[in-house]
Amino acid sequence: MRGDEVMSLTINIYYTGQNGSAKKFAEEMMLSGLVDKIRAEEGNEKYEYFFPMEDEETVMLIDRWKNQEALDIHHKSEMMKEIANLRNKYGLKMRVEKFKEWEDWKMEFEEIIRKRTSVRKYSDKKLEQEKLDKILEAGRLAPTAKNSQPIKIYVVQSADGLNKLDKASRCRYGANTVLIICGNKEEAYHKGAYTTYEMDSCIVATHMMLEATNLDVDNIWIESFDENILREEFNIPTEYTPVCLLQLGYKAEDCPVNPLHDKRKNIEDLVEYK
Ligand SMILES: Cc1cc2nc3c(=O)[nH]c(=O)nc-3n(C[C@H](O)[C@H](O)[C@H](O)COP(=O)(O)O)c2cc1C
Repeated sequence: MRGDEVMSLTINIYYTGQNGSAKKFAEEMMLSGLVDKIRAEEGNEKYEYFFPMEDEETVMLIDRWKNQEALDIHHKSEMMKEIANLRNKYGLKMRVEKFKEWEDWKMEFEEIIRKRTSVRKYSDKKLEQEKLDKILEAGRLAPTAKNSQPIKIYVVQSADGLNKLDKASRCRYGANTVLIICGNKEEAYHKGAYTTYEMDSCIVATHMMLEATNLDVDNIWIESFDENILREEFNIPTEYTPVCLLQLGYKAEDCPVNPLHDKRKNIEDLVEYK
């Protein structure tokens, strides 16, 4: 069973010094046995230094912890004082990036493809911000024609916003997060009068839909909405055209199975080798 406790924390720390001091710091960390001690700590899954080729004065540390509790214990340990002393000794600046990883949640791609289905009844369970961030990031990384990225995504979560959305579409199905994916016709790649804004928007939406499934977030793609009402309610600028909605959340216990999900044409009906 997948659960919220299945998660790990990754911290990237960039140490920057002068005249090779960052490298000397990493060497002393390793030779003094400190690194081995940290690796032996309960809940440590990774503690490794990397030396980026493009920056001689920076050393990157990647450490991963089983959960927040393990990281908290590490922060209070004697080793943290020793690390701080060494950092001061070498006069290093520090930049920290922290990621929550849902690694254990990741499915094989084929499983995601097979598992995704349209959900038409959602519970009140709130969508976690970490998951929403990952879903939006999947949209950001989607390909677009000529890399024009003519996209705007509105995230609707407030009660007021959801009420407005209900005026434009009857297909919210109780989801408490809705993405409005819009494309900019002018910014998109042009071929005569034709522009790829719809294609680009759909690829972005597909990336997000599959990432949602990957994270066990239920979803449905909706094209049934009144464009004018949507524009008016959300003050969508004229240059953007709403292409689709993506409802996100967790299905209600009594959510019906979509009877159409298993009804697909045979591969021979879709594919023809020439
Ligand atoms: C482009 C597109 C538009 C859709 N629009 C709606 C919609 O407006 N309302 C709705 O209830 N479902 C909508 N759906 C969901 C489809 O009905 C659903 O994907 C289809 O029945 C296949 O079922 P499955 O997603 O469970 O595999 C849409 C899906 C796509 C891809």
